[in-house]
Amino acid sequence: MKTIITYGVFDLFHEGHRRLLERAAQMGDRLIVGVASDGFAAERGKLCVAESLDQRMESVRGCGLADLIIVEDHFGQKAEDIVRYGADVLVMGDDWLGKFDALRELCEVVYLPRTPDISSSLLRSSRYPFLRIGLIGAGRIAGRFVREAGYVRGVQIPCVYHPHPDDSASLARFLSDHTSIVKRRTLDKLFDETDAVYIASPHETHYAYARAALEAGRHVLCEKPLCLRGEEARDLYTLADRKGLVLMEAVKTAYCPGFQRLIAVARSGFIGEIRDVDCGITRLTPPGCREWTDLTYGGSFTELGTYALLPAVKLLGNRDLTASFRSLTDRNGLDIYTRVELQGRDCMASGKCGMGVKTEGQLIVSGTRGYILAEAPWWKTRNFEIRCEDPDRRKRFSCEFEGDGLRYEIADFLMRVQGYPGRDRALTADESVRMAEIMEEFLTTRRRERV
Ligand code: CTP
Repeated sequence: MKTIITYGVFDLFHEGHRRLLERAAQMGDRLIVGVASDGFAAERGKLCVAESLDQRMESVRGCGLADLIIVEDHFGQKAEDIVRYGADVLVMGDDWLGKFDALRELCEVVYLPRTPDISSSLLRSSRYPFLRIGLIGAGRIAGRFVREAGYVRGVQIPCVYHPHPDDSASLARFLSDHTSIVKRRTLDKLFDETDAVYIASPHETHYAYARAALEAGRHVLCEKPLCLRGEEARDLYTLADRKGLVLMEAVKTAYCPGFQRLIAVARSGFIGEIRDVDCGITRLTPPGCREWTDLTYGGSFTELGTYALLPAVKLLGNRDLTASFRSLTDRNGLDIYTRVELQGRDCMASGKCGMGVKTEGQLIVSGTRGYILAEAPWWKTRNFEIRCEDPDRRKRFSCEFEGDGLRYEIADFLMRVQGYPGRDRALTADESVRMAEIMEEFLTTRRRERV
């Protein structure tokens, strides 16, 4: 009995997939098909998979060619499967030519020619036109956003609106780095040429830009913090809802595969009831930057507080939590380091953030049966571990975090605009509003303490 094994994502199952499986099946007596899990597909750079794992496995089953369908969810699994299932031949499309030659030690490896002119990506982009995203703001993060958007098929960035005439150097630098992007002098011009906007302007301007864009019927991806007042965030989500538009807060960690896995593990009950969430995030920032010169909205918490709040709000957000803050400030009264404490009836959380103090950037989620430790930098979640009373009972998880990580939020934004379900769970409107409320409490406390 000759066993053939092959792998793929099999999104929007098409003729190319069917023909590959047909040829593979003809090569032996038994065909095993590995279908990539959502997380593994994302780790391999396929960020915009349209169908769920269930749907994709169902399509492979539906074509009637596979004798066994398995899930592929980690690197190195092919070698494990070849041994476990006694596979004689690994078959892959020739887009993978040479990539699996190392497995020839275990079995025969055959690369079959791809069927021309069809792929899942082509099908996805033919269903939907490119999403044209206009940039509001041409600062540091906008440059990173453009680079990362290059990894998400289906997105175009045609133009930028930079609202600060006194900061023309940033705009000139941005335009010379990104020659295909043109400058637009008014928001209306920008809206005319786009379907969506990415707002990367100073914090306090987010609300007005987001509102204007939603009013103009444009989807909005807005840098964190979305708003500095809870009421403003609530207003934006209500407006987006009413207009049937997508509004997303760009907190990159929320959308990356590793953090999503960590949240899922924490919610699984494995560590028992969650009682404490503790994290730190620090990024030393040189003097003279906007974060230190903006005396009203600068400082560490407005800049990094969203990250410090994210795990607690995701895991404990539905409980009644009271926030308090302790800060170390510079002579302008801006916080170089802030510790936010959230206290509930049966749980607590703390988040430290600093631009003038360096500390360990780890995340610990403590439960009644064990805890999760994510190593620094937890906000680019790559590795985390479950630990229990018995120090020998540890379980370690590793996930990819590619580039700057913005590609994950851009992919989610695209998929949500295209109407794929389930993509709004990474960061819900309620969670985003809760973070804006806490940001408002921080700014109110700071104002009161300065008087
Ligand atoms: N395949 C093929 N001919 C095509 C498309 C895919 O033979 N026109 C093969 C791939 O080479 C792979 C298998 O089908 O061995 C599963 O493909 P998948 O991983 O789903 O890739 P694509 O359909 O190419 O999807 P994408 O556009 O997202 O890369």
